[in-house]
Amino acid sequence: AAAAAALAAVVLVALLAPAVRGVDRSEFPPGFLFGAATSAYQIEGAYLEDGKGLCNWDVFTHTHSGGVMDGRTGDVADDHYHRYVGDLEILQSLGVNAYRFSISWARVLPRGRVGGVNAGGVAFYNRLIDALLQKGIQPFVTLNHFDMPRELEVRYGGWLDAGIREEYEHYADVCFGAFGDRVRLWTTFNEPNLLVKFQYMLGAYPPSRCSPPFGSCGSGDSRREPYAAAHNIIMSHAAAVRAYREKYQATQGGSVGIVAAMKWYEPLTNSTDDILAARRAQAFETDWFLEPIFLGDYPGAMREILGSDLPTFTAEEKALLLRYKADFIGLNHYTAIYARDCLRSPCNLGSYEGNAFVSATGERDDGVKIGGDTALAGFFDVPEAIELAIQYVNGRYKGTPVYITENGYSQWSDASREELIDDVRRKNYLQGYITYLSKAVRNGANVRGYFVWTLLDNFEWAFGYRLKYGLYHVDFDTQERTPRMSARWYQGFLTARTSQR
Ligand code: NOJ
Repeated sequence: AAAAAALAAVVLVALLAPAVRGVDRSEFPPGFLFGAATSAYQIEGAYLEDGKGLCNWDVFTHTHSGGVMDGRTGDVADDHYHRYVGDLEILQSLGVNAYRFSISWARVLPRGRVGGVNAGGVAFYNRLIDALLQKGIQPFVTLNHFDMPRELEVRYGGWLDAGIREEYEHYADVCFGAFGDRVRLWTTFNEPNLLVKFQYMLGAYPPSRCSPPFGSCGSGDSRREPYAAAHNIIMSHAAAVRAYREKYQATQGGSVGIVAAMKWYEPLTNSTDDILAARRAQAFETDWFLEPIFLGDYPGAMREILGSDLPTFTAEEKALLLRYKADFIGLNHYTAIYARDCLRSPCNLGSYEGNAFVSATGERDDGVKIGGDTALAGFFDVPEAIELAIQYVNGRYKGTPVYITENGYSQWSDASREELIDDVRRKNYLQGYITYLSKAVRNGANVRGYFVWTLLDNFEWAFGYRLKYGLYHVDFDTQERTPRMSARWYQGFLTARTSQR
């Protein structure tokens, strides 16, 4: 009996071994990028230093009481501007080979084109980039991550006026010129789909404009605004790619991509209507930006539903789009959600897409839940969806490489100290998503890198400092950084001896 039991134990261990061992970095090809991501306004602080101009968020956080939880600002944030040396040491200790960060437009061009380049701002990013390269960490640079010089926001209504295109092209050109000798991977915009939603539909981000029927803050004046803003962003992207191709590509040899937020929409039932609803939700979210950039026009589903509220690309714009696409697609992927038809079936509209109801509880009618909870309502832990998202984008935008530019797990600041540091759920979340990422790689997906959002707890936009995503906990009274269990897990995964780098 003892022998039988021992044999059973051996068999059990053998069966469980792959699951227990977990995912290994050696399952990814050499050169696959693993990193962490941040953005300028969320971590830098130093909002008035070394010639920086005010950005839209500086003014918004100071003047919109109620716009951010606890009335907080990014004036100091993680004080990364002064502490970047220590922060890069932390980053290096994780064993990453890439770092995704953004440049503050207002630090480099405080007033846009009119006032010229701010040498102090350029010097900071030079120091940062040089320090990264010395550590063998590849910079992965975002040009626009929700912020812009306040002066341009006032002059152009943010992204509403087509005049912003030339401003953006100039800014991109200045950055390519100043940093492109060392930066090989650029992205023009971070999540323009969410930017437009929060800025021009819901009025939650500056310039706080609402678009009926989505928001009701009284300052928006047309259903068309979000789509007009998106149109200018898409053309600004193409203009920046053109500047890179014409002036820098030959000498610098880098790549320029764009980052979209991408949920996975799972049909609530297997009815054709729900399957189509999930597709429409995706069209209104991710393909809104990716189809024009890669295929030259907006998704058909958007045109059908929005009609003339959706702008039309002129022949000249189309030519520019088709000539200057993007070299890769970045996906910020956090979750999956059920989508249900609202065109043919009656339902309370639950989403801004206006044509698909999204179940905020993550539950089907029969109570089956799509995945585990995170702090944020509507964000569920559904690791297998990362492979579905990559497959979808690989299939639709054939041949275009994908990077997962963000993936991460949120916690509220009032969780217990133990939960906040021994963050088992974040660790499990990351491990699960990276496991399905390795499966995608094994199944032949064209995916080249993965970044955890985020290195450090930081200013989480309207949530202020209440919502935590960091691998490192930050005490915002002392600026002390403490590695979480998830950071130690990521470090173990990245540096394990079986791994190749
Ligand atoms: C999306 C954004 O790019 C980033 O700024 C934000 O902090 C995270 N996701 C988490 O919400």
